[in-house]
Amino acid sequence: MQTLAGKKILLGISGGIAAYKCAELTRRLIERGAEVQVVMTTAAKEFITPLTMQAVSGRPVSDSLLDPAAEASMGHIELAKWADLVLLAPATADLIARMSAGMGNDLLTTLVLATDSPVAVSPAMNQQMYRNIATQENIATLERRGMHIWGPAAGEQACGDVGPGRMLEPMQLVERCELFFADKPLKGKSVVITAGPTREAIDPVRYISNHSSGKMGFALAQAAAMQGAQVTLIAGPVALATPVGVERIDVDSAQSMHDAALAQATKHDIFIGCAAVADYRPQAVAEHKIKKTDESDQMTITMVKNPDIIASVAALNEHRPFTVGFAAETQDVEHYARTKLSKKNLDMICANDVSVEGQGFNSNNNAITLYWKDGKQSLTLASKQHIATQIVMTIAEKLEA
Ligand code: C5P
Repeated sequence: MQTLAGKKILLGISGGIAAYKCAELTRRLIERGAEVQVVMTTAAKEFITPLTMQAVSGRPVSDSLLDPAAEASMGHIELAKWADLVLLAPATADLIARMSAGMGNDLLTTLVLATDSPVAVSPAMNQQMYRNIATQENIATLERRGMHIWGPAAGEQACGDVGPGRMLEPMQLVERCELFFADKPLKGKSVVITAGPTREAIDPVRYISNHSSGKMGFALAQAAAMQGAQVTLIAGPVALATPVGVERIDVDSAQSMHDAALAQATKHDIFIGCAAVADYRPQAVAEHKIKKTDESDQMTITMVKNPDIIASVAALNEHRPFTVGFAAETQDVEHYARTKLSKKNLDMICANDVSVEGQGFNSNNNAITLYWKDGKQSLTLASKQHIATQIVMTIAEKLEA
């Protein structure tokens, strides 16, 4: 089937032994209707010839930034704009390091800098080079910038070692491309997500807050964006990078989060309240720093209730989004989660047991059970990113139903 019909794939090959598989990869992509333009680094040409790649792709290979004749046909900027997807396979440790540093010292790295198309990186190298902290940090940097990391696989390596670092097989890469271009479940939908803690001021220098890291909400924003949604993230004070393609609104207090959330809610299809909103705030914020006194050993702060953001969103009469809340519980999780689901009039609630070590607050992992009116689904302990993707997929299913 022509699953890749009309898709323009720029295949960047760097100098690793797996480069010999690129002829097969190109054939399989073209078979499915893709147009493939090959770009090679100097080292790549030691492993597979440009003539081979030209023959299988049906296009002259680009390999030089400084060749006036090549630039005259399709220059590097034109190539960068042409691609629907830039696929770097194999991506050596060296290519990954150069991209991570933002270098543009050959045609391939220059193209990566100049493109605003999605970039997929398929690492291939010796297992020790892959495990090296420098390589790991470089890959993490590329991922944070929104590049897709496809692989590597583990197994026997050309050098005789066994371990992670094998390039994915050509057919696996073809499947990744097909999946990449397939319609995403949240395409055309928009999502607003609240994340992180709130800060409730006591005086100009002090506040009341909580331990929420914001990681779950940020993971949800990234997952929703990757599933095709347009995402607005309303973030309390957290030190996290904004996921690629996500619009971020920074807020501070529960009241400011409430105002931002209600201004956004009716403009979106889905609202996910992941923030750990302070239930109460000091009734009055002192104008000046409160001084310690000798008269008393006690100090009293009168607190008043904050608005319940998600309940206000769920109570909207017009343009009410599909509303998903969170419940962090320490006991009787299902009972409390279901009570919140109905009391706040939510469409779905994601409940986690925060009494269990290694999940929830400040952790990188989470285990969650999703509840809706007449059903539930358990998501076992996994990275917050993985849990986020599953939550987003379940929301997409419920929207369709
Ligand atoms: O009532 P509780 O705080 O346990 O409910 C948690 C859910 O309600 C979360 O989705 C949280 O984001 C939301 N919430 C809110 N506004 C509040 C308190 C909680 O939106 N003031």
